[in-house]
Order: sequence, then C-alpha cells, then structure tokens
Amino acid sequence: MDYEEWKRKNWDEAHKTSNVSALTGTGFGGHLTTLQATDLFDKNSTVLCIGVGLGDWVRDFSEKVEQIWALDVSEIAKVRMPLGAVFTTDPRDLPSDTFDLALSLWVAPHMSDHDLQVQLTEVIRALKPTGTFAIHYKEPLYPDNLLDNREGADDEHLRAREAMMIRRRAHFFNMVTWAGGHVDKIAIEYPSNFYEIVEASAHIHKGDGS
Ligand SMILES: C[S@@+](CC[C@H](N)C(=O)[O-])C[C@H]1O[C@@H](n2cnc3c(N)ncnc32)[C@H](O)[C@@H]1O
Repeated sequence: MDYEEWKRKNWDEAHKTSNVSALTGTGFGGHLTTLQATDLFDKNSTVLCIGVGLGDWVRDFSEKVEQIWALDVSEIAKVRMPLGAVFTTDPRDLPSDTFDLALSLWVAPHMSDHDLQVQLTEVIRALKPTGTFAIHYKEPLYPDNLLDNREGADDEHLRAREAMMIRRRAHFFNMVTWAGGHVDKIAIEYPSNFYEIVEASAHIHKGDGS
C-alpha cells in the first residue's frame, strides 16, 4: 500500500468509527478564533470548509452563510454534511474565483508536501480576488533543528499519525508562492516549548500581492 492510500484508509476508518481523537471536533467558534477569521465573512459569503472532522462546525457555518462547500480526503465525511452543502474529495472540482473564505484547521499538519501543494494551488485558484484562505500549519520552534519531512522518510508515518508534519516558515511561504498566492499575514502564533513547535495560522490571498 502506498503512502497516500495508507493515509486515506486511516481517515476513512476514523470517519467510519467517528473517532473523536482523530477527528478533533473543534466547533465553529474554535475554527474562527484559531484562524482569526471572525471578521472575514458575512451572510452573503461563499465558504469552503476543509477537513470536515466531526462536522459540527460545517453545520453551524451553513446556518450563517449563503453557500457552503466542504473538502475532505475521505468520502465517508460526506455523511456529516448539512443539507445544501456541496462536498468533494478532489480539490480540482472546486469552481474558480468563487470563495470569500476557505478555512483549514488541524489539516495541513496531516498532509504530505505533495498533497498540500495541490490543495494550496486549487484552493487559491478557487478564491475570489478578494477572498482569504485561512490555514493552520506547524513550524519548528527552533528553525535550525534538523527536519525530515520527505515523503517516505522512515518516521513519516509516525509524524503523520502524531500530526507533526512541520514546515519552516520560508518553506511554507514558498509553497504558497508556487501555488499562485501570497501570505498576507501570520494571524496567530502559539509556541509550544514542550513539542518544540509553533502552531501558526496564515491568511493567504490570491496573486503576488503587488
Ligand atoms: C484532525 S481532523 C480536523 C477536523 C476539524 N477541522 C477540526 O478541527 O475539528 C482532520 C480532518 O481533515 C481531513 N483530511 C485529512 N487529510 C486531508 C486532505 N489531504 N485533504 C482534505 N482533508 C483532509 C480528515 O479526514 C479529517 O476530517
């Protein structure tokens, strides 16, 4: 079984069994505060929820905005969708220039660089010119420490399981640039001395910012 297949099976299993420790279950408010996105939508917004988890936040969002889409790697997550929401597992299905706001919390640290690069590219394409992609990722607290996030690295399955795909800020910013966007700001940074990481939330916009 290759790495991507292994990951998909794990998420399918988590969704099948409603595994709370894997799916997290952050609420609507938790997504907005951690991603500093409270002021970025109104009732006319079209919103993309990435990484459905237990789905309560997606259902809450759908009551507050005009149109909602959700993207998740597991097809099984579709059962958690509210009526009227559009669901896909493939970011290439997203319509261009459509979203006012895309939100991703506790998802990027589970993703390989390959998957994240595809997701960034497609989500940035799908943003309106005025839209924001608010995304959480992990940085090393000490950027000089050795990191090995190569796909196929010996400890990668362990890292992915433990949600420890860590990206230096310069690398994350490069990935955003390669995807056709730019990081407007790092909205929130929580350092964890114990894990030697920083939980960061970036606000991404379309284009190079000029
Ligand atoms: C740890 S849960 C977080 C859920 C929710 N955002 C929260 O904070 O409660 C990760 C979610 O992201 C989904 N996921 C994992 N890898 C993904 C990927 N490559 N693309 C889209 N969704 C992914 C999982 O199926 C799961 O629903």
